[in-house]
Amino acid sequence: MKNKIDVLQDKIKKANEGGGAARIQSQHKKGKLTARERIHFLLDENSFEEIGMMVTHRSVDFGMEREKYLGDGVVTGYGNINGRLVYVFSQDFTVFGGSLSETHAEKICKIMDMAMKNGAPLIGLNDSGGARIQEGVVSLGGYADIFYRNVQASGVIPQLSAIMGPCAGGAVYSPAITDFILMVENTSYMFVTGPNVVKTVTHEEVSSEELGGASTHATKSGVTHFACSNELDAINHVKRLLSYMPQNCEEIPLQLPYNLSDESRLSLNGIMPENSNQPYDVRSVISEVADTDSFLEVHKDYAENIVVGFIRLAGRSIGIVANQPAYLAGVLDNHASTKAARFVRFCDCFNIPLLVFEDVPGFLPGTDQEWNGIITNGAKLLYAFSEATVPRITVITRKAYGGAYDVMNSKHIGADLNYAWPTAEIAVMGAKGAAEIIFKKEITSAEHPEEKWLEKEKLYSDIFANPYRAAERGFVDEVIEPAQTRSKLIKAFKMLENKVVNRPRKKHGNIPL
Ligand code: HXC
Repeated sequence: MKNKIDVLQDKIKKANEGGGAARIQSQHKKGKLTARERIHFLLDENSFEEIGMMVTHRSVDFGMEREKYLGDGVVTGYGNINGRLVYVFSQDFTVFGGSLSETHAEKICKIMDMAMKNGAPLIGLNDSGGARIQEGVVSLGGYADIFYRNVQASGVIPQLSAIMGPCAGGAVYSPAITDFILMVENTSYMFVTGPNVVKTVTHEEVSSEELGGASTHATKSGVTHFACSNELDAINHVKRLLSYMPQNCEEIPLQLPYNLSDESRLSLNGIMPENSNQPYDVRSVISEVADTDSFLEVHKDYAENIVVGFIRLAGRSIGIVANQPAYLAGVLDNHASTKAARFVRFCDCFNIPLLVFEDVPGFLPGTDQEWNGIITNGAKLLYAFSEATVPRITVITRKAYGGAYDVMNSKHIGADLNYAWPTAEIAVMGAKGAAEIIFKKEITSAEHPEEKWLEKEKLYSDIFANPYRAAERGFVDEVIEPAQTRSKLIKAFKMLENKVVNRPRKKHGNIPL
């Protein structure tokens, strides 16, 4: 018996060594942790249970039968984060560069299937040179097996991808299907084709970092939701992000204990600038309304004219969508629309109520926007809000103009409650432009056209630059003092907690992608 246990211990030791001491050292030299170290920092102490430690590849070409490592370049299993069950795979770059073989893929698929059956989140820690080149098509097949499961799991369990090294070629499509991507600055990159191919095909000279590093994807492409300063930062972000989500689509997010006290926030009464064209940072509104330090912004550096993220409100997890007057006046454009639409759909998948702060001058005009599909992209946001069945509340803080009024979770597309601050302006367009169109003849024929224009602008503004016309119609349920916003929202979301909406039977809708 002892002998047999020794053999087992020996194998476990070998598996834990991955690709060996030299390769681990080289991994550390690059500022990267190993696959097992990452799991150690991610999961609650002693909670990790490994599955498939003894798996080896079946490849026999290129002398591969003589080079085998227990685990085959990926550590898979389950464990807890803050006591909650999660499934994890962590690619081991020290074994064939973390490349994906047939068996490596089978290990990942096995825990994906378990995560689905048991309704718990899946976390992928990616660090891989892509398809195992020695294996050919079976490796490609392995990728497709994973993609297929990512799609089946979408909307059923939360899926998070942390990119902690290379992620190139078709391999990028697994993270892309998952709900959130986190990248590490300077040590991770994602691209469909690398700098060499780019140079050959388009003659562009670009570094890996510039082409597909964390900052590039956090600012230019929006592929990553978070750019983290190092691996521990990324791991902590994964844990925090997960805390706002339920285990699966049948559950609601964990509500933290909270004792109500005086929930008025007097500083909100002074937040709006005197001049309605002056910017302010909507994050200060969000932070005042949210439980202390509970705001986790998603996609912070991408399409900054809209802010999305999670807060807690009296302990409840809430998804925020807010126009940002401090960036491009909070206008809706292609990127802002798609960013917000995806976030809205995520929250709806996982029973996270939505709170919208609206201050939007409209959609951004111009050829760039039109030629890049603002019609289709704006429709995505409209569609996403309209199909969402979670509790939905809008607070119009200032401007709600034109089509953007409809799109930003208006009463007409199914919002449950619509509040407005006294500073709200709800109209087809700004007063200056409106006066120019409807009083054109009077203005041009006037002795002093400029004065006439100002007079008509004031007239339009007196009628529409307030929330009361909309309130008379019931499009706004209540005009509230800003200081009361938090307490109103706490009560309203509690009132809506058992909301049920039945939709017409269908296979699935056809969102304008
Ligand atoms: C097998 C691989 C490998 C791969 C790396 N290795 N990538 N083995 N298949 N895809 C091995 C190396 O041979 C080396 O083994 C070890 O991993 C570390 O690699 P290095 O090159 O020494 O590391 P580094 O200098 O850090 O460069 C990392 C790298 C580079 C940029 C990822 O290895 C690289 O370019 N690899 C190939 C990437 C690639 O073209 N993959 C296929 C993409 S197409 P030793 O024994 O020396 O430690 C694809 C299609 C997917 O993935 C389609 C899905 C639909």
